[in-house]
Amino acid sequence: MLKTLSLATVSAVALATGAFAAGDAGHTEDFAFSYEGPFGTYDQNQLQRGLKIYTELCSACHGLKFVPLRTLADEGGPALPEDQMKAYAAAFPINDELSNPQLFDRDLEEYRTLLPTDNFPALETAGAPDLSLMAKARAGFHGPLGTGINQFVKGIGGAEYIASVLTGYTGEEKEEAGTIFYENTAFPGGWIAMAPPLYGEDVEFNDGHSNDLHSEAEDVAAFLRWTAEPHQDARKRTGFVGVFFLIILTVLLYLSNKRIWAKIKRKD
Ligand code: HEC
Repeated sequence: MLKTLSLATVSAVALATGAFAAGDAGHTEDFAFSYEGPFGTYDQNQLQRGLKIYTELCSACHGLKFVPLRTLADEGGPALPEDQMKAYAAAFPINDELSNPQLFDRDLEEYRTLLPTDNFPALETAGAPDLSLMAKARAGFHGPLGTGINQFVKGIGGAEYIASVLTGYTGEEKEEAGTIFYENTAFPGGWIAMAPPLYGEDVEFNDGHSNDLHSEAEDVAAFLRWTAEPHQDARKRTGFVGVFFLIILTVLLYLSNKRIWAKIKRKD
């Protein structure tokens, strides 16, 4: 009763204010990610492709300041070999020195190279938000009628939203107060200040994997979903073991219950 009531209130408020009406929220395409569903896990190759796209095309503007570089070698993540992860950290540029005072070496009087124990550097200059938790901060699915009920079926859709923004440019632009805005079918409001970062064939993959716009967007979105939820695979495994033991416990309790009450319930 309480649930239906609050649900009704939420949808009434949403309808009245138009806050989450489908038109405002933009259109999110339902990409099929490997990690979906109770048993889905990250696709390690996809995360590595996404890391490459982030490094080559997004890291000039967007930071990942909550992500420790060493986690790139983690199982259930991109799982780079240890030496590659170390080389990646050492080669990563610090583009925004003022936001990363902890990386300044007072003895050498210069910014030191990154170590595996460091996080990706912060970037605050370009007006671009940090992407570490973006896949959790955004929802792709709001329906029906702004109630968000379809999230039970489709998931929150943060990664789907990111991939939809990357593929959602229409090619229209306008200038307002000195800023250029680009029309985008997924971004709420329809106009985003980020120029299209991907066009397709922006990176080459060693294994010859498809690099068209759609799969690049999907790969980098999956990578950003991992940065936002790095322990998902382990969490699902633990959950599965937990539920398995609960099922065994249920059977045992049912059998003990039958046995305890057998004397009283026997009809003879
Ligand atoms: C030239 C700088 C630049 C590059 C390169 C760039 N972005 Fe952005 N990005 C921005 C700016 C600026 C914004 C803020 C846009 C706004 O709020 O209108 C933004 C916003 C975003 C958002 C947030 C949208 C939201 O809902 O607030 C996402 C997600 C995003 N970028 C992903 C990416 C990805 C993935 C790449 C690499 C493929 C990338 N960006 C490359 C500048 C950039």
